[in-house]
This record gives sequence, structure tokens and C-alpha cells, in this order.
Amino acid sequence: MVKINDNYLKLPGSYLFSTIGKKVREFSAQHPDKKIISLGIGDVTLPLVPEVIKALHGAVDEMAVKETFKGYSPDLGYEFLRSTIAEKEYRTRGVNIEIDEIFISDGAKSDSGNIQEIFDTDNKVAVCDPVYPVYVDSNAMAGRAGDYDPGTGRWSKLIYMPCTSENDFAPDLPKEDPDIIYLCFPNNPTGSAITKARLQEWVDYSNRIGAVIIYDAAYEAYISEDDIPHTIYECEGAKTCAIEIRSFSKSAGFTGTRLAFTVVPKELERGGVKLNSLWARRHGTKFNGTPYIIQAGGAAVYSEAGRAQTKEQIAYYMNNAGVIREGLTAAGYSVYGGVNAPYIWMRTPKNMTSWEFFDYLLNNANVVGTPGSGFGPNGEGYFRLTAFGTYENTLEAMERIRKL
Ligand SMILES: Cc1ncc(COP(=O)(O)O)c(C=O)c1O
Repeated sequence: MVKINDNYLKLPGSYLFSTIGKKVREFSAQHPDKKIISLGIGDVTLPLVPEVIKALHGAVDEMAVKETFKGYSPDLGYEFLRSTIAEKEYRTRGVNIEIDEIFISDGAKSDSGNIQEIFDTDNKVAVCDPVYPVYVDSNAMAGRAGDYDPGTGRWSKLIYMPCTSENDFAPDLPKEDPDIIYLCFPNNPTGSAITKARLQEWVDYSNRIGAVIIYDAAYEAYISEDDIPHTIYECEGAKTCAIEIRSFSKSAGFTGTRLAFTVVPKELERGGVKLNSLWARRHGTKFNGTPYIIQAGGAAVYSEAGRAQTKEQIAYYMNNAGVIREGLTAAGYSVYGGVNAPYIWMRTPKNMTSWEFFDYLLNNANVVGTPGSGFGPNGEGYFRLTAFGTYENTLEAMERIRKL
């Protein structure tokens, strides 16, 4: 009789967003006259920019003609997109990434969830706390996380690296050496960034102990400050210890269209094996490519017009972030993030728990956000708001919070 992978049974239910949904539905049913504003949205709300739409239409038309029709895409993705990424994302920042180090995919979620497959299950994994849950759950599914303790909200075999206001939400080097280190900057959920100097410490540390950093830079496009690295490869020695994951989701509105890429440098070897070859083998075996149409749309993001249009969208969201930051600060809250990321992380007032503050905000301001405790034990006492709403709703939400 077949045996299931019982690591799946160890996973706690994903209650965060379903509990939020349930509470909001109940409140609406009891107060049908109240207009609820959600600043909990983790998805973009503006449509794809005209330049991308034009490229998508053009690619659709190509698929209708025998001479230009495309079937399976090359394993690593189309060269036109990979060479554009190598040029526009890396060479312009003084980083030389070769096109066979870039793997086009359908999302940073899938890449960050799948990348652990190329590592042994005995490896020790370190994650930030709070954390984007995919890193934890994908390692738990593979049996690398041990057992979950609902009391502490922790897995027995993971190394948790607290990210709090004390360390500017960038983790300190752990006391116990990990093998795999997940870093995400600019960060979801804390909205914080890491300086180049501090990221360099992580690179040096990983090279010294032989660990590998999985660097999720899905929010790179939101960086506005000068000393914040746009890619981990700006740090010296990163090519021998880091894999970088990027996404078109939040930089160009591709959440529903699906496009991302992962960089695995050929210099990155462990146990005498190039990780690039392993990921290429995995990609070739289990992934049959992102659609040509989508890759053509992605390339249009890098055209002059595409760049200008996507920049404008990011500016729109970041203007919302500014409104939230200023509104909350004026109302007397301690506020973090929202400068290099579309997330604002705030301290709950009067020692309220994250969920108590959720209820308070829903009941008194009819505003919805996300309890920080849903992202890990060190998220307790914090609350996440996002800049992905409309400007008008964001302003109104701040006005309501100010009046509380
Ligand atoms: C840190 C982080 N990585 C990855 C993703 C997912 O990106 P994608 O849409 O490319 O799968 C998200 C989405 O919210 C995220 O917050």
C-alpha cells in the first residue's frame, strides 16, 4: 500500500488569510452600511502597462502564423529575455551575469519553494522571523524542518533569525551555523531593506562556513535609497555563495501573468558540484517553460517606454506607502518599512497582540490589515499594511485611523 509523504501532515493549517476573510465577512454581515477598506492586499491592483500589453498582443499574433508560431520554449527561457535581463538588471549595475546563469520561470513563489530540492534533506535551514511562509513550508514538506510546535509557532529543526526593530529588521548572524540561509530584501512582511555593508557580512559568513544564501529580491524595483543593494551580486564574493530569485510580479504587475527568474552562478559549487548544473537538470526535467507570449511581454518591461510606465506604477504604490507612513506616524504609531518596499510594518499600540489590533482596527476604523504574528513568532505585536490599494482608499483609511 502506498505511503504518503507524512511531512505534509505536520504542516499547520494556513489560517492567516482565511481567518482574516472570515472576520471581515462576519463584520460586513453585521454592519452592511460600513465601507471596509483593505490595506491587507498583497497583490498589485493596477493593470499591465500599455507597452507590455502591446508586446503581448504582438506575441499572440505571432502564435497565429505558421512561420512565427512557437512551441516549447528553451529550457532556461528565451535568449532574448535572458540577455536583456543580463544587460538591464546586472551589467548596468556593474555585475556580470552570463545568460546561462539565468533561468526564466513562472514565479518567485515556485522558484523559492522548489530550489530546496537540489540540497540534501539533512541540511540545516535558517529563516528570518517573521518570514514569507513559502521558505518554511517547502522545507517542512521535504522533511528538513522537523516538527511543528503550535505553542511556540516554531519548527524543531529550523534556525530562526529574529528581525525586530532592535536589529533594523535585518537578521544578525546566527549562533548555530546553518547550511541554507533564506534572505528576502526588500522584505515581505517588514518592508525593510538591508544595507550593502550588512549584506556583505552575510556573503562573507556564507563563504566562510560553506553555506548557500537563497536571496529573494522580489521587491527590488521598490528600492529608493542609495546604499541598498539591488542584487546580492553587488557584494564581493556573492557568486560563490548565493542564488538570487527575482520576479516580474510586483515590478511590472505580472502576478496574474506569471514571470520570474532565478540566477545560479556557475562559480557556485558545493561538494565539487556546480549548483547551476543541478538547477538546469531540475528545470529541464520538471519545467516546460514560461509561455513565449509572457516572455515577450516581460522583455517589453525593459524597453524605454516599458521602463517609464512600470516606474510610474511603482511610484503610485510608493506614494501610497508614504501616505501610510506619514498618516500612522502623525497618529503616534511606531512605523517601519514603506521606503524601499510596498509594505508598512507598524507596532501595535498599548501592548495589543497583532490579532487584538486587527479586531480594533476592523471594528473602529473599518480598515483591514494583516496581523504580524501570522508571519512568525517575532511578528507578534506588529501589523502589516500594504501600499497596493487605491490612493483614495489609502487616504481615507489614514483619515479614519487618525480619528481613532
Ligand atoms: C517575498 C516574496 N517572494 C515571492 C513572492 C511571489 O512572487 P511570484 O508572484 O513571482 O510568485 C512574493 C509574493 O507576495 C513575496 O512576497
